[in-house]
Amino acid sequence: MIYPFFRPLLFRLDAEKAHHLTLAALKWLPAGTPAEPDSALSTIVVGIHFPGPVGLAAGFDKDGIVAEKMHHFGYGFSELGTLTPLPQAGNPTPRLFRLAEDRAVINRMGFNNGGQEEAKKRLTRMPRTGRVIGINIGANKDSVDRIADYATGVRNMAPLADYLTVNISSPNTPGLRALQDRKALDELLGAVMDARGADLTPIFLKVAPDLEPADIDDIAQCVTDHKIDALIISNTTITSPPLHSRHAGEAGGLSGAPLHDLALQRLRDFRAKLGTAMPLIGAGGISNAEQAYARIRAGASLVQLYSAMVYEGPWLAAHINQGLKQLLARDGFTNIAQAVGIDAPSH
Ligand SMILES: Cc1cc2nc3c(=O)[nH]c(=O)nc-3n(C[C@H](O)[C@H](O)[C@H](O)COP(=O)(O)O)c2cc1C
Repeated sequence: MIYPFFRPLLFRLDAEKAHHLTLAALKWLPAGTPAEPDSALSTIVVGIHFPGPVGLAAGFDKDGIVAEKMHHFGYGFSELGTLTPLPQAGNPTPRLFRLAEDRAVINRMGFNNGGQEEAKKRLTRMPRTGRVIGINIGANKDSVDRIADYATGVRNMAPLADYLTVNISSPNTPGLRALQDRKALDELLGAVMDARGADLTPIFLKVAPDLEPADIDDIAQCVTDHKIDALIISNTTITSPPLHSRHAGEAGGLSGAPLHDLALQRLRDFRAKLGTAMPLIGAGGISNAEQAYARIRAGASLVQLYSAMVYEGPWLAAHINQGLKQLLARDGFTNIAQAVGIDAPSH
């Protein structure tokens, strides 16, 4: 209710300053216990009990400062990161842009984060509410062995995570997306699964939306071969749909409304390829219950969002949950899991 009052004030600030101010405000919220999960929205995916299907996407809370607090706003799970083994400053500022007319964001942050050691200390101290925390891991920009960085990330962060996300799809670390290529991906996923060892923390892979059919075939084969637990579709796009804002020409990854159709299509592509064999998590341009529901009906077991929250405020997840409950009841479903993939051709 109060976000429409604060938004114009935040929007007068540079986008990254506004983000830091938001994190600082959230940090001071009392810890408390999140509301009881709703039985229609609770779901089990890869053996994890998710109290709700709407998650906070990576990038909002890279260092794990407010992750637990986000559960009070209706998020069923929060994904921290991307965290790299060593701290790094990221790209020069300005590197984060609001495209208000397009309900979009462009970022070229470049994995700015305090590093995994700092995060480990913080997360160990953090009071846990028992809600789901995912940790998204990446490679340092100057690393000589990026694959080793992911293996290090698994060893560092698995003890603190309900699931880990291997992020090879950020466009702002030069060459990172090349890890999606068949041979490199095979090597990377082999190293990640070896590093996981006997500790069976579920491993998710996060892919770009900018993929050709042959890339989708290769990725689907690799994730199946290596028994990856779930796929997050998708990260930001480097394609340029028509945009109207003055920042439209900024370099970086585009997220929010203009990514919606592309991310939905990629989800459909992977669902067509993988069937029900692997849980999918839909992200990209989701801003209301209808869009979240459409993503679930297309095959997503869970969804994530970030950019729409910039425009709609932190309570967006709670609003989406309310809307999802109504949509499920309208269609005669008693639990969200019954709607997953109902619109997919292979259903
Ligand atoms: C400012 C910003 C920073 C992001 N940083 C990360 C990141 O560090 N790691 C990652 O996997 N995705 C990152 N993302 C991508 C989001 O997690 C998400 O996949 C993407 O923005 C699409 O969802 P949305 O349209 O709801 O924002 C970032 C997105 C934004 C807007």
